[in-house]
Amino acid sequence: MRFTGKRAVVTGGASGIGRATALRLAEEGAVVWIGDIDVAGGEEIAATSNGRIHFQRTDVMQAGDIEALMLAADAAGGLDVVFNNAGAAGSRDPIDVISPEDWDRTQALLLRSVALGIRYAAPLMTARGGGAIVNTASIAALQTGAAPTAYSVAKAGVLHLTTMAAADLAKHNIRVNAICPGFITTNIFTTALGIEGDKRAMANAAIGAIAAKAQPLQRAGRPEDIAAAVAYLASDDAVFVTGTHITVDGGMTIGPRHSWDAEAPSMFAALEAFAA
Ligand SMILES: NC(=O)c1ccc[n+]([C@@H]2O[C@H](COP(=O)([O-])OP(=O)(O)OC[C@H]3O[C@@H](n4cnc5c(N)ncnc54)[C@H](O)[C@@H]3O)[C@@H](O)[C@H]2O)c1
Repeated sequence: MRFTGKRAVVTGGASGIGRATALRLAEEGAVVWIGDIDVAGGEEIAATSNGRIHFQRTDVMQAGDIEALMLAADAAGGLDVVFNNAGAAGSRDPIDVISPEDWDRTQALLLRSVALGIRYAAPLMTARGGGAIVNTASIAALQTGAAPTAYSVAKAGVLHLTTMAAADLAKHNIRVNAICPGFITTNIFTTALGIEGDKRAMANAAIGAIAAKAQPLQRAGRPEDIAAAVAYLASDDAVFVTGTHITVDGGMTIGPRHSWDAEAPSMFAALEAFAA
């Protein structure tokens, strides 16, 4: 019950990582405000939460929506925790093809939204003596090969924004950290491809099977795995932790595949024929 008496905002809380985190924070005593463009999903979670989770339609592309969400949570007694998490795949075009508009849209969704989440939360937290902010980055911020270019660059920006904001806000006792999820089975992939209805469940099952084999720990990453780390960073257990990130990826970023997968092609295996 690390969040008893606290109020939290979670963007993108109608699905996936945000949903699991909203539920985790509420389970541990917080009253949570979900901001999302998915009205049906957000209202469904709020309706089944015994008043612990509120939903406010929020488009994180709109500065006014973000500010209104922070103010709503603050008005209930003061804003303690913010999880800037809403997102989608963005443009999948490579750099030699992407349009200026698609580049801007992807950066606005994944990076500007986080900057503005911090911008509007910080004065409210300052007024009450401090708070904790967690931002969703990605392993795509750390290495190539995990996601498209515009997405990966935005997420790398989230990581640097996290350290800069931690520096700016430490004097107000506001901690700012990031989370780098690996391959987590959520709707983000089916949404990116426009797969809906009955086909979505089938596609998600297929994604789960791929995700189970994608990293050293041989099971699919779950939204709850991320929620646990976000709850730690947002809690007083992390009271001396700021300006850093936690990678939760089942070991995906450990190193080249042959270092952890005996089945993967290895240079030494290929050379054995010559050595014999
Ligand atoms: N799933 C993964 O493997 C993975 C890995 C690394 C990082 N992430 C990041 O985690 C975050 C959450 O993604 P997820 O995997 O839970 O996906 P998801 O699709 O399950 O959830 C994303 C949520 O964000 C909401 N959203 C999208 N655009 C919005 C907007 N403009 N305003 C408000 N809400 C909006 C969606 O409606 C949805 O509820 C994203 O920032 C994503 O980039 C995901």
